[in-house]
Amino acid sequence: MKEAPKLNIIKSQKLFDEATGLVPGGVLGARKPTDFIRGEYPIFFDSGKGCRLIDVDGNEFIDFLCGYGPIILGYREGEVDEAVYEQITGKGFCFTLTQKYQNILAKKLTQLVPSSELSIFLKTGSDATTASIRIARAHTNKLKVMRCGYHGWHDWCVEMKGGIPSKFYEDVFEFRYNSLDQLEKLMDTHGAETAAIIMTPFGHPNHEKMEIPKPGFLEGVRDIADRYRAVLVYDEIRTGFRLSMGGGQELYGVVPDLTVLGKAMANGYPISVVTGKKDIMMAAAHRLFISSTFFPNSDGFVAALKTIEILERDNVLENIWEKGERFIGRIKTLIDKYDVGAELTGVAPMFYITFEKDETGAYKEKRKDFYIQLIRKGFFFSPFHHAYISFRHTEEDLELTLRAVDECLAFVKEKYA
Ligand SMILES: Cc1ncc(COP(=O)(O)O)c(C=O)c1O
Repeated sequence: MKEAPKLNIIKSQKLFDEATGLVPGGVLGARKPTDFIRGEYPIFFDSGKGCRLIDVDGNEFIDFLCGYGPIILGYREGEVDEAVYEQITGKGFCFTLTQKYQNILAKKLTQLVPSSELSIFLKTGSDATTASIRIARAHTNKLKVMRCGYHGWHDWCVEMKGGIPSKFYEDVFEFRYNSLDQLEKLMDTHGAETAAIIMTPFGHPNHEKMEIPKPGFLEGVRDIADRYRAVLVYDEIRTGFRLSMGGGQELYGVVPDLTVLGKAMANGYPISVVTGKKDIMMAAAHRLFISSTFFPNSDGFVAALKTIEILERDNVLENIWEKGERFIGRIKTLIDKYDVGAELTGVAPMFYITFEKDETGAYKEKRKDFYIQLIRKGFFFSPFHHAYISFRHTEEDLELTLRAVDECLAFVKEKYA
């Protein structure tokens, strides 16, 4: 099997070299070359439309990262962008006081998200997860937190602890997705002082295989939260408006007390929300200060309202599930055919191709080769993050991708035979 030629990423590299003198590390967080494969992936994009991206060197990709989650429709989705443009030019979006869109969006959420009664709107997922913990602590007058999943970059939950006094996270304990025993044990010890259990309703731990809930897991966590009077928070930043309009809680039928949403809600515009049961949310009305200059800006609200309108009108999530089921089914068939240790986990709207770990670490080389061939052929996946499917992936885009996956697996098979 012929090796795909290396991409020309000279302009990306040049911009990155320049950036290292302007921004610590050149680019932030999971945008670093080390979060992909150094020397193989572009570092700067120029533009995107639908499900396609063009980097600064002119390479074109069919994209499966969707901006790390917010792109549910597609890049440069005309109707959403126009609604925002009209708002900005016709009315304005940054004022001292609130515009009416807050109420409209809050009402809409009560119709769509099972746990939604009252809502507070913020900008980022980290804003929202942090606000949910503050609300839970104020409501319960308790301190400790059990957590499961990535919840953003703030002091209480970020994985890299540099620059954070340990007292900011020493009351926060982590449990594994689908491990009810582990949570039960933690709560045996800390339950009486636990304010919140925050978790993703669907298992998408960083860099790890994805997990659907084992029978009884979500119900078991709900039961533990109730027994200890802890607030159950679902972090639906990735799953909201993606697994279903009501998120993982609607799909799996277990309702939390509070929910945090962001990413796909507004197809890329910055807005997030904590939404939940009135008696708990009311702690935020008088006893907490949750406010920020940009929180009420209406560009995000208008984008969210238009995105939700399109999601409902065009049955977007049904479309993604349908084509996605066929797509991941066929990838699984290819994985079986080549038998190189690749695995596909997750569900149609969000899935991940990983390589079975082995003691020698050979799986890392196979993974590297597989993803290098994919990016060289023009398919933007990440070895270290799961993939998403958007509305704008056409059957033809998915066919092209399947052909490439077939060739990349064949390449790995031949190289490691
Ligand atoms: C599940 C989850 N929670 C919280 C966050 C933090 O969101 P943000 O990056 O918008 O601060 C993320 C971001 O990836 C996420 O995936």
